[in-house]
Amino acid sequence: MLRWKELYEECLSCSKCSLGDNRTNMVFGDGNPKAHIMFIGEAPGADEDRTGIPFVGRAGQLLTKALLALDLHRERDYYICNICKCRPKNNRTPYEEEEKACIPYLRNQVALVRPKIIVCLGATAMGCILGKEWRITRDRGKWIERKGFYMTATFHPSAVLRDANKKAAFWEDLKSIKEKNEEIFQTKNVDT
Ligand code: URA
Repeated sequence: MLRWKELYEECLSCSKCSLGDNRTNMVFGDGNPKAHIMFIGEAPGADEDRTGIPFVGRAGQLLTKALLALDLHRERDYYICNICKCRPKNNRTPYEEEEKACIPYLRNQVALVRPKIIVCLGATAMGCILGKEWRITRDRGKWIERKGFYMTATFHPSAVLRDANKKAAFWEDLKSIKEKNEEIFQTKNVDT
């Protein structure tokens, strides 16, 4: 397992797939690297590629604002990153071989952050992390415990932007993440 600096540098110089050839910036991750909650998206979009920061475009702003309304602050309460660290052209979904090439970096990030809660944003991250049998519309909001993590999935905020009918479920899922976080810490305080 690499430490943060080495991992960042390895991502910067990665050529395991061709996505790096067309990127402006590698988009590593953002937020509190010691947070208890980790959000995982698909891959950077245009705004993220331009800035090098995940979830700063319209979809990212929607997510950030919704979490703020629940008093969840990026710099304090969560870490956020993507399956793929480089932007696929025209925002296409990453190919499976691109996900496979990049996922060891994500695993290393998870090992460094050691979150209690992992949230998959959208079908791509969900399929990659929770399994191909998961269906976003059917299974979002469900919780499982695996390898010591509480894991769930919700709609990708860009899907919520495209379809206002997804808003209520998205909001319910975010509230359930907040509740799960509180539940874990209450239990921990009772134990200690
Ligand atoms: N969509 C993602 O999945 N990740 C980002 O960082 C931005 C948009």
